[in-house]
Amino acid sequence: MRDRMMKLGIIGGTGVYDMPVVDTVEEQSVDTAYGAVRLRKGIFRNPSGEQLCVVFVPRHGAAHSVPPHRINYRANIKALCTLGVTDVVGTTAVGSLREDIAPGQLVLLDQFIDFTRTRNYTFFDGGPEGVRHTDMTYPYDESLRQLLQSAASEQNIDLRPRGIYVCTEGPRFETAAEIRMFAQLGADVVGMTNVPEVILANEARLNYAAVSLVTNYGAGISDSPLTHDEVTAAMDANMRKLTALLTGFFDKKIVSDDGGGTGE
Ligand code: HPA
Repeated sequence: MRDRMMKLGIIGGTGVYDMPVVDTVEEQSVDTAYGAVRLRKGIFRNPSGEQLCVVFVPRHGAAHSVPPHRINYRANIKALCTLGVTDVVGTTAVGSLREDIAPGQLVLLDQFIDFTRTRNYTFFDGGPEGVRHTDMTYPYDESLRQLLQSAASEQNIDLRPRGIYVCTEGPRFETAAEIRMFAQLGADVVGMTNVPEVILANEARLNYAAVSLVTNYGAGISDSPLTHDEVTAAMDANMRKLTALLTGFFDKKIVSDDGGGTGE
Protein backbone atom coordinates (compact mmCIF):
# COMPACT_ATOMS: atom_id res chain seq x y z
CA MET A 1 0.00 0.00 0.00
CA ARG A 2 1.57 3.31 -0.96
CA ASP A 3 2.15 5.81 1.76
CA ARG A 4 1.11 8.80 -0.29
CA MET A 5 -2.37 7.30 -0.67
CA MET A 6 -4.89 9.31 1.31
CA LYS A 7 -6.34 7.38 4.24
CA LEU A 8 -9.99 7.59 5.19
CA GLY A 9 -11.35 6.31 8.49
CA ILE A 10 -14.78 4.77 8.91
CA ILE A 11 -16.11 4.24 12.43
CA GLY A 12 -18.96 1.79 12.08
CA GLY A 13 -21.82 1.89 14.56
CA THR A 14 -24.57 -0.60 15.33
CA GLY A 15 -25.13 -2.92 12.37
CA VAL A 16 -22.01 -1.79 10.52
CA TYR A 17 -19.34 -4.35 11.31
CA ASP A 18 -17.45 -4.35 8.04
CA MET A 19 -17.19 -2.58 4.69
CA PRO A 20 -18.34 -4.94 1.93
CA VAL A 21 -16.88 -2.81 -0.89
CA VAL A 22 -13.42 -2.59 0.68
CA ASP A 23 -10.88 -5.40 0.20
CA THR A 24 -9.30 -6.11 3.56
CA VAL A 25 -5.53 -5.95 3.43
CA GLU A 26 -4.83 -6.61 7.09
CA GLU A 27 -6.34 -6.68 10.55
CA GLN A 28 -4.23 -4.87 13.03
CA SER A 29 -4.07 -3.97 16.70
CA VAL A 30 -2.87 -0.39 17.19
CA ASP A 31 -1.49 0.63 20.60
CA THR A 32 -2.31 4.11 21.87
CA ALA A 33 -1.80 5.93 25.18
CA TYR A 34 -5.45 5.06 25.92
CA GLY A 35 -5.35 1.37 25.06
CA ALA A 36 -5.18 -0.90 22.02
CA VAL A 37 -7.66 -0.80 19.13
CA ARG A 38 -8.37 -3.64 16.73
CA LEU A 39 -9.09 -2.32 13.27
CA ARG A 40 -9.05 -3.34 9.63
CA LYS A 41 -7.10 -1.73 6.83
CA GLY A 42 -8.36 -2.17 3.32
CA ILE A 43 -8.40 -0.85 -0.22
CA PHE A 44 -11.39 0.53 -2.10
CA ARG A 45 -10.96 0.46 -5.89
CA ASN A 46 -13.16 2.55 -8.15
CA PRO A 47 -14.13 1.39 -11.67
CA SER A 48 -11.08 3.22 -13.12
CA GLY A 49 -8.77 1.24 -10.84
CA GLU A 50 -7.96 4.19 -8.59
CA GLN A 51 -7.59 3.34 -4.95
CA LEU A 52 -8.41 4.69 -1.54
CA CYS A 53 -7.04 3.28 1.70
CA VAL A 54 -9.89 2.78 4.18
CA VAL A 55 -9.28 2.11 7.86
CA PHE A 56 -12.33 0.58 9.50
CA VAL A 57 -13.01 0.64 13.25
CA PRO A 58 -16.13 -1.15 14.54
CA ARG A 59 -17.09 1.21 17.36
CA HIS A 60 -18.80 -1.44 19.53
CA GLY A 61 -16.13 -4.09 18.86
CA ALA A 62 -16.37 -6.86 16.28
CA ALA A 63 -19.38 -8.56 17.92
CA HIS A 64 -21.15 -5.50 19.38
CA SER A 65 -19.74 -6.36 22.79
CA VAL A 66 -19.02 -2.81 24.02
CA PRO A 67 -21.96 -0.63 25.17
CA PRO A 68 -22.00 3.10 24.26
CA HIS A 69 -20.81 4.35 27.68
CA ARG A 70 -17.85 1.92 27.74
CA ILE A 71 -16.51 2.59 24.24
CA ASN A 72 -12.87 3.69 24.28
CA TYR A 73 -13.51 6.76 22.12
CA ARG A 74 -10.10 8.30 22.80
CA ALA A 75 -8.24 5.14 21.77
CA ASN A 76 -10.33 4.82 18.58
CA ILE A 77 -9.53 8.38 17.48
CA LYS A 78 -5.84 8.14 18.45
CA ALA A 79 -5.46 4.84 16.57
CA LEU A 80 -6.79 6.49 13.40
CA CYS A 81 -4.35 9.38 13.88
CA THR A 82 -1.48 6.93 14.42
CA LEU A 83 -2.21 5.35 11.04
CA GLY A 84 -2.16 8.73 9.30
CA VAL A 85 -5.90 9.03 8.76
CA THR A 86 -7.02 12.61 8.09
CA ASP A 87 -10.73 12.26 7.33
CA VAL A 88 -13.30 10.20 9.21
CA VAL A 89 -16.94 9.30 8.70
CA GLY A 90 -18.87 7.76 11.59
CA THR A 91 -22.12 5.87 11.17
CA THR A 92 -24.73 5.86 13.93
CA ALA A 93 -28.13 4.30 14.51
CA VAL A 94 -30.60 6.85 15.85
CA GLY A 95 -34.17 7.25 17.00
CA SER A 96 -36.27 9.99 15.41
CA LEU A 97 -37.67 12.85 17.48
CA ARG A 98 -40.05 14.00 14.76
CA GLU A 99 -42.87 12.32 12.90
CA ASP A 100 -41.59 13.67 9.57
CA ILE A 101 -38.26 11.83 9.98
CA ALA A 102 -39.31 8.22 9.49
CA PRO A 103 -37.39 5.01 10.17
CA GLY A 104 -35.17 4.17 7.19
CA GLN A 105 -34.21 7.83 6.66
CA LEU A 106 -30.50 8.70 6.41
CA VAL A 107 -29.51 11.95 8.14
CA LEU A 108 -26.28 13.91 7.68
CA LEU A 109 -25.57 15.47 11.06
CA ASP A 110 -24.68 19.13 11.32
CA GLN A 111 -24.98 19.84 15.07
CA PHE A 112 -25.11 17.95 18.35
CA ILE A 113 -26.45 18.51 21.86
CA ASP A 114 -24.72 16.60 24.63
CA PHE A 115 -26.72 14.84 27.37
CA THR A 116 -24.04 12.29 28.27
CA ARG A 117 -22.63 12.22 31.80
CA THR A 118 -19.73 9.90 32.44
CA ARG A 119 -17.40 9.81 29.47
CA ASN A 120 -13.82 10.81 28.74
CA TYR A 121 -14.45 13.88 26.62
CA THR A 122 -11.01 15.25 25.93
CA PHE A 123 -7.36 14.66 25.14
CA PHE A 124 -6.59 17.95 26.90
CA ASP A 125 -7.10 17.07 30.55
CA GLY A 126 -3.92 18.61 31.88
CA GLY A 127 -1.79 15.56 31.06
CA PRO A 128 0.95 15.40 28.43
CA GLU A 129 -1.26 17.10 25.84
CA GLY A 130 -1.83 20.13 28.12
CA VAL A 131 -5.00 22.21 28.29
CA ARG A 132 -6.76 23.46 25.19
CA HIS A 133 -10.29 24.69 24.49
CA THR A 134 -11.41 23.54 21.06
CA ASP A 135 -13.89 25.46 18.94
CA MET A 136 -17.02 23.38 18.45
CA THR A 137 -19.28 25.88 16.65
CA TYR A 138 -19.61 23.67 13.57
CA PRO A 139 -18.38 20.25 14.67
CA TYR A 140 -18.99 18.35 11.41
CA ASP A 141 -16.64 19.00 8.50
CA GLU A 142 -18.36 20.92 5.73
CA SER A 143 -16.38 19.54 2.80
CA LEU A 144 -16.99 15.94 3.88
CA ARG A 145 -20.66 16.81 4.33
CA GLN A 146 -20.81 18.21 0.81
CA LEU A 147 -19.14 15.14 -0.70
CA LEU A 148 -21.59 12.87 1.12
CA GLN A 149 -24.50 14.97 -0.09
CA SER A 150 -23.36 14.93 -3.68
CA ALA A 151 -22.72 11.16 -3.51
CA ALA A 152 -26.28 10.74 -2.21
CA SER A 153 -27.87 12.85 -4.91
CA GLU A 154 -25.95 11.06 -7.67
CA GLN A 155 -27.21 7.72 -6.36
CA ASN A 156 -30.75 8.95 -5.75
CA ILE A 157 -30.39 8.25 -2.06
CA ASP A 158 -32.59 10.35 0.17
CA LEU A 159 -30.12 11.87 2.64
CA ARG A 160 -31.53 14.57 4.92
CA PRO A 161 -28.88 17.30 4.60
CA ARG A 162 -29.05 18.49 8.21
CA GLY A 163 -29.84 17.01 11.57
CA ILE A 164 -29.33 17.95 15.20
CA TYR A 165 -28.24 14.90 17.18
CA VAL A 166 -28.90 14.56 20.90
CA CYS A 167 -26.49 12.17 22.58
CA THR A 168 -27.75 10.36 25.67
CA GLU A 169 -25.74 8.32 28.13
CA GLY A 170 -27.58 5.05 27.57
CA PRO A 171 -27.46 2.17 27.50
CA ARG A 172 -31.14 2.47 28.39
CA PHE A 173 -33.50 4.05 25.89
CA GLU A 174 -35.19 7.35 26.78
CA THR A 175 -38.42 8.06 28.58
CA ALA A 176 -41.30 9.56 26.60
CA ALA A 177 -40.82 12.83 28.53
CA GLU A 178 -37.14 13.00 27.59
CA ILE A 179 -38.01 12.49 23.94
CA ARG A 180 -40.59 15.32 24.13
CA MET A 181 -37.99 17.56 25.81
CA PHE A 182 -35.34 16.84 23.17
CA ALA A 183 -37.84 17.63 20.42
CA GLN A 184 -38.73 20.92 22.15
CA LEU A 185 -35.03 21.79 22.27
CA GLY A 186 -35.04 21.60 18.50
CA ALA A 187 -33.17 18.32 18.09
CA ASP A 188 -34.01 15.90 15.29
CA VAL A 189 -32.53 12.53 16.25
CA VAL A 190 -31.26 10.76 19.36
CA GLY A 191 -28.43 8.31 19.78
CA MET A 192 -25.85 7.19 22.34
CA THR A 193 -22.45 7.34 20.63
CA ASN A 194 -21.65 10.47 18.66
CA VAL A 195 -20.41 12.25 21.80
CA PRO A 196 -17.53 12.28 22.57
CA GLU A 197 -16.43 10.81 19.23
CA VAL A 198 -17.09 14.01 17.28
CA ILE A 199 -15.46 16.15 20.00
CA LEU A 200 -12.29 14.05 20.12
CA ALA A 201 -12.05 14.00 16.33
CA ASN A 202 -12.12 17.82 16.36
CA GLU A 203 -9.55 17.97 19.16
CA ALA A 204 -7.32 15.68 17.09
CA ARG A 205 -7.84 17.99 14.08
CA LEU A 206 -9.43 15.24 12.02
CA ASN A 207 -12.06 16.17 9.47
CA TYR A 208 -15.13 14.37 10.74
CA ALA A 209 -18.67 13.79 9.46
CA ALA A 210 -21.42 11.48 10.66
CA VAL A 211 -24.26 9.74 8.85
CA SER A 212 -27.14 8.55 11.00
CA LEU A 213 -29.66 5.93 10.03
CA VAL A 214 -33.05 6.29 11.68
CA THR A 215 -34.01 2.88 13.05
CA ASN A 216 -37.11 3.81 15.07
CA TYR A 217 -39.27 6.63 16.37
CA GLY A 218 -38.19 7.87 19.80
CA ALA A 219 -39.90 6.48 22.91
CA GLY A 220 -43.53 7.52 23.16
CA ILE A 221 -43.83 8.68 19.53
CA SER A 222 -44.79 5.18 18.45
CA ASP A 223 -46.88 2.98 20.76
CA SER A 224 -44.62 -0.05 20.96
CA PRO A 225 -41.74 -0.38 23.46
CA LEU A 226 -38.24 -0.05 21.97
CA THR A 227 -35.89 -3.00 21.65
CA HIS A 228 -32.32 -3.33 20.49
CA ASP A 229 -33.51 -6.05 18.08
CA GLU A 230 -35.74 -3.48 16.36
CA VAL A 231 -32.72 -1.21 15.96
CA THR A 232 -30.50 -3.93 14.47
CA ALA A 233 -33.28 -5.23 12.18
CA ALA A 234 -33.79 -1.71 10.78
CA MET A 235 -30.03 -1.33 10.28
CA ASP A 236 -29.90 -4.65 8.40
CA ALA A 237 -32.85 -3.63 6.22
CA ASN A 238 -31.11 -0.39 5.24
CA MET A 239 -27.51 -1.54 4.93
CA ARG A 240 -27.66 -1.58 1.12
CA LYS A 241 -28.54 2.12 1.11
CA LEU A 242 -25.78 3.03 3.54
CA THR A 243 -23.22 0.94 1.63
CA ALA A 244 -24.25 2.59 -1.67
CA LEU A 245 -23.85 6.02 -0.09
CA LEU A 246 -20.39 5.22 1.27
CA THR A 247 -19.31 3.65 -2.03
CA GLY A 248 -20.30 6.79 -3.93
CA PHE A 249 -18.54 8.85 -1.28
CA PHE A 250 -15.30 6.80 -1.53
CA ASP A 251 -15.30 7.38 -5.26
CA LYS A 252 -15.76 11.13 -4.82
CA LYS A 253 -13.11 11.22 -2.16
CA ILE A 254 -10.54 9.74 -4.55
CA VAL A 255 -11.37 12.38 -7.17
CA SER A 256 -11.51 15.30 -4.72
CA ASP A 257 -8.15 14.47 -3.10
CA ASP A 258 -6.57 13.28 -6.30
CA GLY A 259 -5.21 10.77 -3.80
CA GLY A 260 -5.99 7.69 -5.84
CA GLY A 261 -3.33 5.53 -7.35
CA THR A 262 -3.31 2.41 -9.42
CA GLY A 263 -0.35 0.69 -7.80
CA GLU A 264 0.31 -0.64 -4.33
N1 HPA B 1 -32.52 6.22 21.39
C1 HPA B 1 -31.18 6.23 21.60
N2 HPA B 1 -30.34 5.61 20.80
C2 HPA B 1 -30.83 4.98 19.72
C3 HPA B 1 -32.20 4.95 19.44
C4 HPA B 1 -33.09 5.61 20.32
O1 HPA B 1 -34.32 5.63 20.14
N3 HPA B 1 -32.36 4.23 18.31
C5 HPA B 1 -31.12 3.86 17.88
N4 HPA B 1 -30.19 4.31 18.75
